[in-house]
Amino acid sequence: MDTLTIRRPDDWHLHLRDGAMLRTVAPLSAGFGRALVMPNLVPPVTTGAMAAAYRERIRAAGFARPLMTLYLTEETDPADVVRAHADGTIAAVKLYPAGATTNSASGVRDWDRIRPVVDAMEEHGVPLCLHGEVTDPEVDIFDRELRFLDTRLAPLRDMHPGLRITLEHITTADAVSWVLDHGVGATITVQHLMADRNDMLAVGLRPHHYCLPVLKRRRHRDALRHAATSGAKNFFLGTDSAPHPQHAKEAACCAAGCFTAPHALAAYAQVFDEEGALGKLEGFASLHGPAHYRLEPNADTVTLRRGEPLELPAHHGGDPRVVPFDPGHPIRWHVDA
Ligand code: NCD
Ligand code: ZN
Repeated sequence: MDTLTIRRPDDWHLHLRDGAMLRTVAPLSAGFGRALVMPNLVPPVTTGAMAAAYRERIRAAGFARPLMTLYLTEETDPADVVRAHADGTIAAVKLYPAGATTNSASGVRDWDRIRPVVDAMEEHGVPLCLHGEVTDPEVDIFDRELRFLDTRLAPLRDMHPGLRITLEHITTADAVSWVLDHGVGATITVQHLMADRNDMLAVGLRPHHYCLPVLKRRRHRDALRHAATSGAKNFFLGTDSAPHPQHAKEAACCAAGCFTAPHALAAYAQVFDEEGALGKLEGFASLHGPAHYRLEPNADTVTLRRGEPLELPAHHGGDPRVVPFDPGHPIRWHVDA
């Protein structure tokens, strides 16, 4: 199979930022229809009104069909969340444990304080997207997702059995099992399918491989590849494409995030091809996500073509410059415009 035509994919986890970075990256999500846009701006997108205003800035910058999220804080007003979801301003709410990742300082410290808003979300069917890592500095960074499953996600699920949950950017075999056992949704990124921690650390330290949750062992990468290509409806495409200026990545203290938006779809196709599972790409990329968010799949299609290895540019943009994530092995798929 050298060409593949599928319903147009969506990206269920995308960072578009704001200002000059937004103008640089908004036009670069090649092949995607809709994108669930993350709210971790400075200051974060915490109200329906802020989400509506951000949506207009995104459209003006060249991404036509953003789906918005609200950043959950301990002060979030349940009525505002329910209203913003009911009137179509937001598609989901995002929970960052405070300190877990880029711009998460306003996130949740005391989980008891978000109980009323999560109750309201459960009652009104508002989806919750989770950054699934504990932030206790005593917990080893490679164990933070696993620990979250036991100490945060399991109690949340028990307390709110009707809550619609997406566990974002899963990185471990443990998360794969948890998702299947509990019937929640999960996104999987390009970098977690294509790379492991050796790729990041063993041949020099590669800052453009550094994201959170951090890349894990090879066996976890393989479990994610198996999950993504299995056809299970729990798993769907979310790039977590997270642009940072080149100087913030290539630094003594490197910012977390891999920029994959322009070549992500080609990279997913490469993974599915390597796994002998191209027939499962449409489900993962274009059908399971809309089903989870109770939306129709896109009506139009996109065609992927196998050819020469993709040549990644040294950087995108000019001011700021953004360096794309290079998996270090060939991506032979191309997205027809
Ligand atoms: C994201 C970012 O830069 O906003 N970084 C990352 O490493 N994935 C935040 C996030 O999704 O954790
Ligand atoms: Zn993210």
